[in-house]
Amino acid sequence: MNYRHAYHAGNFADLLKHALVLWLLERMPRPLAVIDTHAGAGLYDLGDGTQARSREAEAGIGRLMGAPRASMPGALRMLAERVERLNDAEVRLYPGSPRLIVGALAREDSYCGFELNPEVLALLERVLADHDNAHARGADGYDGLMGEVRAEKASNGLLVLIDPPFERADDYVRSAEALRGVVDALPDAVVALWTPLKDMETFDGCLRRIEGMAAPVSVIETRLRPLTNPMKMNGCAMIIANAPKGLDDEGLSVARWIAQHLGEAGAEGRTWRL
Ligand SMILES: C[S@@+](CC[C@H](N)C(=O)[O-])C[C@H]1O[C@@H](n2cnc3c(N)ncnc32)[C@H](O)[C@@H]1O
Repeated sequence: MNYRHAYHAGNFADLLKHALVLWLLERMPRPLAVIDTHAGAGLYDLGDGTQARSREAEAGIGRLMGAPRASMPGALRMLAERVERLNDAEVRLYPGSPRLIVGALAREDSYCGFELNPEVLALLERVLADHDNAHARGADGYDGLMGEVRAEKASNGLLVLIDPPFERADDYVRSAEALRGVVDALPDAVVALWTPLKDMETFDGCLRRIEGMAAPVSVIETRLRPLTNPMKMNGCAMIIANAPKGLDDEGLSVARWIAQHLGEAGAEGRTWRL
């Protein structure tokens, strides 16, 4: 396992994912349980040297924080406000999904984050330490997911975030199966799967494993450039089952804002139903 999210924290892909997660959290029924199958460290220090090599945050959260708030769709504004509250004048800390999620939960809600890398797990445990309703599990998120889902009451809200590193080819298969498995078990669960966009066939293959479900599925895509170089992450998408009303419109605004402000020639944002 070589993937380290610290190199990518705060990039354009995190902006799409985290803005939409914050939007979903505001609209989910309560009490709410959130399961994060690939949690990461929970908080990233953009000044610790890792980012100096990738510069991804500068081109992502750096640009968002420098843009006028009035130009942003509500979900991106919410993210900018959360990042602002974490920092002084300079943006040095960027929150991962665990930190963003626990900050939006009430006492009766709960959070469970899976993380396989022991060093990253230790950081995650530190981020969650002050939250009695949150816990980290040092286990495979795909293997542990259904046990956590079955323990939930069907009457409560359930939000599942599936955000693998996609460093293994089977992440596309396992993540799509995980999304289907949750909705088969709890038909009202909201499941959000993040995927990179490199070439069309890999993306289409992932979508083919999901299509045909009874639940509505929205696809929100941001492409920073045309998909002509399959070796690059040219864009990313959030595939969301059972999204609350309004997600398609807000998702389109967020995807377009990111494409227009962070993309190259040929960048675009779109939302569509699978
Ligand atoms: C893309 S990062 C997660 C980022 C995080 N969701 C966020 O938005 O801040 C993926 C994380 O999953 C961990 N990981 C990889 N395979 C895993 C697995 N099968 N189960 C749980 N965690 C895994 C990696 O160590 C890495 O920290």
